[in-house]
Amino acid sequence: MNTDRIVRTFVEYFEERGHHRIDGSTLLPPEGDPVLFTTSGMHPLTPYLEGRPHPLGRRLVNVQRCLRTTDLEEVGDPTHLTVFEMLGTWSLGDYEGPQSLDWGYGLLTEGFGIDPGLLHVTVFGGDEQTGPDTASLDLWQERGLPVELTVEDNWWSNGPTGPCGPDSEIFLWTGDTPPESTPTGDDRWVEVWNQVMMRHRRLDDGSLQPLPQRNVDTGLGLERLAMLLQGKRSVFECDVFDPWRRTVPPLWHVDGPSLRVVWDHLRSAVVVIGDGVRPGNTGRGYVLRRLVRRVLTVLWQDDPSRSLGDLPDELIRHTLDHFRQNEELDVVRRVLLEEERRFGRLLERGRQILARPRFRSGPLSEEDLCYLHDTHGLPRDLVLNLRPQ
Ligand code: ALA
Repeated sequence: MNTDRIVRTFVEYFEERGHHRIDGSTLLPPEGDPVLFTTSGMHPLTPYLEGRPHPLGRRLVNVQRCLRTTDLEEVGDPTHLTVFEMLGTWSLGDYEGPQSLDWGYGLLTEGFGIDPGLLHVTVFGGDEQTGPDTASLDLWQERGLPVELTVEDNWWSNGPTGPCGPDSEIFLWTGDTPPESTPTGDDRWVEVWNQVMMRHRRLDDGSLQPLPQRNVDTGLGLERLAMLLQGKRSVFECDVFDPWRRTVPPLWHVDGPSLRVVWDHLRSAVVVIGDGVRPGNTGRGYVLRRLVRRVLTVLWQDDPSRSLGDLPDELIRHTLDHFRQNEELDVVRRVLLEEERRFGRLLERGRQILARPRFRSGPLSEEDLCYLHDTHGLPRDLVLNLRPQ
């Protein structure tokens, strides 16, 4: 099942159950939002989870592009991407958690044909502020699924304050042996679907207040679901990455996790540029800058003559089309190349300065790093790359 069909199957299943499809937003949250990028499907829907009536009703379904910088260091492992798409459903004060879990179970097992014997779920076991989620526990026990109770792993929020609640996560077994152990103890259990009983608001002082309505917020990473349904071992092997797998290795010989970093960061950079961000030293621009520079660092390690100018048009076009973005291909290309030139010049300057007697031998001190940054504009990461300590 390719990703287009997965999306169609998902959306239609929930439309048949009274949900309206809403358009996904861009990666840029509205003005005034303290977070740099949209990090989950619920993010653009926060006002509606807090009680504002949604014009399309109380049952919604969508596909939302998300960017998570918290996962940046994990990229290169089989299941994390910087930019990814999230399939999501919402009950805005309409049906309750067990109904959502039951539909989720139905879609996974009947709609997507997953063997129920390969599923495991986790449920919030309760803490000093909130009791255990017995409604979810009962539902899963009726369905005969093994349940693990946790505390921190089964509480979801989009930030330190705001809407939050206990969640129940559905995991799929990916091991070569029959299922064993539990999701928190064995990473062969891969999380597929997170369902949050979003009915609290966390205040600045850490206390919880009930939201005006009892919501359910659910999300599944599309690429990860595709990986699982296509029987692959990593998200980079699912159909979304077909053109990357075909065109990048013949162009640049980079191995294993580094190649995944190149695919992930370049694809993410194209989407971020497609949403109007330009490289800079702060905020969103800095995230974009880090993505591009990390790719260049990997590429130039073996061969400094490599250039993003060689990136095939097809990859940029495929990415913009996949994310339904209208940015001109040439604009994306120009932004990438300008950043490449800027980084190249900075590296050259860094090398010259580090060759000076003051820096030539011994480890660099904290004072050296501050001086190189403040006086010569050389970021700490770059210096440490040029001169590992
Ligand atoms: N908002 C929840 C998540 O992103 C569903 O995992």
